[in-house]
Amino acid sequence: MIEAKGLVKRYGKYTAVDNASLTLEKGEIVALLGANGSGKSTLLGMLAMVLKPDEGEVIVDGLKGKPAKSKIAYVPQDIVLFEELTVLENLYSWSSLKGKENIERAEYLINELEMTDFKRKRVDRLSGGQRRRVNLAVALMGKYDYLLLDEPLAGIDAHGGECIEHLLRAEKEKGCSMIVTEHNPTVLLPLTDRFLRIEGGHFIG
Ligand SMILES: Nc1ncnc2c1ncn2[C@@H]1O[C@H](COP(=O)(O)OP(=O)(O)OP(=O)(O)O)[C@@H](O)[C@H]1O
Ligand SMILES: [Mg+2]
Repeated sequence: MIEAKGLVKRYGKYTAVDNASLTLEKGEIVALLGANGSGKSTLLGMLAMVLKPDEGEVIVDGLKGKPAKSKIAYVPQDIVLFEELTVLENLYSWSSLKGKENIERAEYLINELEMTDFKRKRVDRLSGGQRRRVNLAVALMGKYDYLLLDEPLAGIDAHGGECIEHLLRAEKEKGCSMIVTEHNPTVLLPLTDRFLRIEGGHFIG
């Protein structure tokens, strides 16, 4: 379970996330919805422990800090990849898996996300939607119990959306819990257990 208590993030005088608390149960998928600038990425960054809150705390299965962070895989909204490396090289570079498991996981993700045709291409030669798929795949090259995805469908075509839905369904069936931010929840609607709406850094509704 992820428990976030009283998270606050301020940028100067502006409060981007204001006293947000939430609980993510084991195996649950929560969609985090909100307009541009409402605080979704700021909140997700704090939950993933890549962004330090000004107030509040995040507890994962009763743990804090590094041991808690190691249970979480995070897919950032901004694509972060090694641009001069190929797709495969990126998967291996970001991976925390070893040997056979590493190779099999990369193969699985390449198949699921239909990246076979461009797996040996350099990332800086890929299209926007192809880069988005690689950005998702690198985050999944490890062991984790929680998956935090910031707009994984941005720039993805309809068929790519179906591939991602299939992949995330399999993760859910393994017991993985998720929070997904998105603007158009229709693609992942069948997977979603609960919706959270954020406006001006506050949960609403
Ligand atoms: N590094 C920063 N410095 C200053 N202000 C920031 C910073 N990051 C975010 N903000 C502000 O915090 C607010 C929330 O931003 P955030 O990125 O969390 O929104 P979002 O809901 O993810 O939006 P989008 O749908 O566009 O991705 C915005 O008003 C933004 O301008
Ligand atoms: Mg965002």
